[in-house]
Amino acid sequence: MLALSASILSADFLRLQEEITRMEQGGCDVLHIDVTDGHFVPNLTMGLCVAEAACRATKMRKDAHLMISRPQDFIKKFADAGADLILFHHEATSHPFEMIKYIRESGKMAGVALDPATPVRSIAHYLHAVDAVLLVTVCVGFGGQTYIDEMDAKVEELVSLRREKGLHFEIQVDGGLTPENARAKHELGVDTLVAGSMLFQSPDVRQLVRQLKGEC
Ligand code: DX5
Ligand code: ZN
Repeated sequence: MLALSASILSADFLRLQEEITRMEQGGCDVLHIDVTDGHFVPNLTMGLCVAEAACRATKMRKDAHLMISRPQDFIKKFADAGADLILFHHEATSHPFEMIKYIRESGKMAGVALDPATPVRSIAHYLHAVDAVLLVTVCVGFGGQTYIDEMDAKVEELVSLRREKGLHFEIQVDGGLTPENARAKHELGVDTLVAGSMLFQSPDVRQLVRQLKGEC
């Protein structure tokens, strides 16, 4: 079944609790926390304090999308902050197996995220070890951009690889989703749609989520 993951990068941070509750009551399944360091990506978003508060604000699953260099330094900290799934970037480490081990030792689910330019085949050798793969479908680190259409082929490649290998990891797409293009991504085989602007700018999240899930 399709899941909706709300990226709080597009929330009004002055009213964070209210905004998160609006997503939860609207039928979203996951809260997505975008962490950047101004180094791995040229943006500074939120860190541990905001992540910890956001995690306390909801019963939804919490995903920490670590767009940071040296993810190993922060995996345990984001686990302690309350994240359920921790996604490190493939490009940020030469030691994906170590990252997965640290995440597992923290008692959390492990995921890997890919920049638009990173081929799917670069993670083929460790797909069996992860719970989720997130494909970033815009320039990494910023909300409100346009979906890169070439990413559809990448999604299809990942879906085929999962089928060929008989694996069951969750496939997420993150970035540039709109009410017009989101449903088609699910039809390609995506399990979880990560969206910031589309959800937070919606005047009726419940209706939008129901539409995207094909419930109306
Ligand atoms: C981009 C972030 C996304 C971002 C998506 O690198 O990882 O989670 O918030 O924002 P929208 O949905 O506005 O493209
Ligand atoms: Zn993200």
